[in-house]
Amino acid sequence: MTRESRTPVLEVRDLRIYYETPKGDVHAVDGISFVLYQGETLGLVGESGCGKSTAAMGILQLITPPGRIVSGQVLMDGVDLLKLDERTLRQMRWSRLALVPQGAMNSLNPTMRVHQQIEDVIRQHQTKTKTFDRSQLKPRILELLSWVGLPERVYDMYPHELSGGMKQRVCIAMAVALHPGVIIADESTSALDVVVQRVVAQTLLRVKADLGVSMIMIGHDMGLMAQMVDRIVVMYAGRIVEIATVEHAFRNPAHPYSQVLIDSVPTISERKPLKITEGITHDPRNPPHGCIFQLRCPFVMERCRREAPQRREIRPGQEVACHLYEQQPDGSYRDVRDTA
Ligand SMILES: Nc1ncnc2c1ncn2[C@@H]1O[C@H](COP(=O)(O)OP(=O)(O)O)[C@@H](O)[C@H]1O
Ligand SMILES: [Mg+2]
Repeated sequence: MTRESRTPVLEVRDLRIYYETPKGDVHAVDGISFVLYQGETLGLVGESGCGKSTAAMGILQLITPPGRIVSGQVLMDGVDLLKLDERTLRQMRWSRLALVPQGAMNSLNPTMRVHQQIEDVIRQHQTKTKTFDRSQLKPRILELLSWVGLPERVYDMYPHELSGGMKQRVCIAMAVALHPGVIIADESTSALDVVVQRVVAQTLLRVKADLGVSMIMIGHDMGLMAQMVDRIVVMYAGRIVEIATVEHAFRNPAHPYSQVLIDSVPTISERKPLKITEGITHDPRNPPHGCIFQLRCPFVMERCRREAPQRREIRPGQEVACHLYEQQPDGSYRDVRDTA
């Protein structure tokens, strides 16, 4: 697929989401913009608390007080989801845009059998023109279960009879039940053991390939991301610092924070120590002027404290918000640390 022929399916523009606290607003998502293209898997990464889940919930307009969407647009087929009324939004959720929320497997209803929970999703979306008769419902649910690699007997089981990985796959079955064009999976493989993580990840990929959906995978396991996604979006403290193809992100990450994330991927032959001190962070209610990463950046310059870097495409398939990259007269970018 050439870059020009890609069709955007979801576009987030300058989204800002704050949480009100007695000491001021936490800037959980502070002006993020990105595009999800048809058929691609986008990995959204960054350390815990950087705003990934808030962004996911914001895209589906599921933010509740003390949170609020301050500004921005979420475009799907030219329609701004943030402007839709609750009724229209309810129609869209699951059917066009489905979220497997963080911790989904623990929020399955313990008193309902698996098939009842999947039925609920399907029924909520019955309309006059689109009804599911009972005789079709069971085969449909069995088909969904087999899609996510679960045996037929799961149909009648209760959540407590299932392992973590199986529960997570039930959640994926619910997300794909109405054939949405976009699925957002928030930490779907976290809190599972390594083998099960791989199984769940493969389930997501297979479902994606079979159904041709576009996907945003949120997670912090960079090793898993490397194998699963097409492009990586790196968030730090509510902002996007880099967006790159998986090749660029792993071979030559540009942002100092992306470099730390990649360096922290453990390999057996080479164990690299973390280069950046943890804990020197700013107050999320009072982000610094200039670059969001300045307090932890080993390469911080005077300019970084003055001026927030804009995100620019420093080479095809790689955009970074960092003053270390300076545009040359011929249009290319140079790392200011390289002496000419
Ligand atoms: N209900 C809330 N009230 C106040 N702050 C919140 C609330 N929920 C999340 N936050 C803050 O918003 C930031 C982003 O959180 P979150 O989106 O859960 O991050 P992630 O999913 O990347 O771990 C964090 O600083 C978190 O403490
Ligand atoms: Mg989260």
